[in-house]
Amino acid sequence: MNDENNKIFEKRFDISKNIKKSLLNNLSNSKSKLDYSHRFNGRWENQYLDIDFVPEIKNILDFACQLGRKIINKALIIPNKRLGFQNNEFWFNISKPGESTGWHDHKIKSRISGVYYIKIPDRSGNIRFRYKNKGSYKEWSLDSEENKMILFNSDLEHCVGKNNSDEKRISLAFNLYTFPINWSKSFESNSISKFY
Ligand SMILES: [Fe+2]
Repeated sequence: MNDENNKIFEKRFDISKNIKKSLLNNLSNSKSKLDYSHRFNGRWENQYLDIDFVPEIKNILDFACQLGRKIINKALIIPNKRLGFQNNEFWFNISKPGESTGWHDHKIKSRISGVYYIKIPDRSGNIRFRYKNKGSYKEWSLDSEENKMILFNSDLEHCVGKNNSDEKRISLAFNLYTFPINWSKSFESNSISKFY
């Protein structure tokens, strides 16, 4: 992989205070509907929820597809149950004080992955990226800021630092696919590879 493949795209996407409030309320009221994957270090890292319970995220996911389209000049889709797919290829990361997320990448079958920052208290952890270059890792970090979206190649490894605030840190992550979608067994289960 070269530097160009590992470029990160950042773009602000503002949502109104009312929409943010409604999104956070819906998320908090849908605890019984959350579907979990990847229990690690005593917590569920990915929390899946159907769009119907949090309709506020539709615009965020659309924006991700449009931004991705500008980057690779190809149409992109975030598969989800409303479109008839078996899984939702988006999920919430809710990190409590003291929690962090280890190094991982998203599955190779998707083309671009991304994250949108919904609630990022001060000192709640920044995102770090790394890739191997001539046998050694090149590693860097980016500030996680509310209302910012980050897009990157799905095979780029990343992690999130410890939440040193005393509040929850909430982000929305997703995978974007080009057409035709490369169907495989791995697509039928929730995606993520980890490297610890
Ligand atoms: Fe991730």
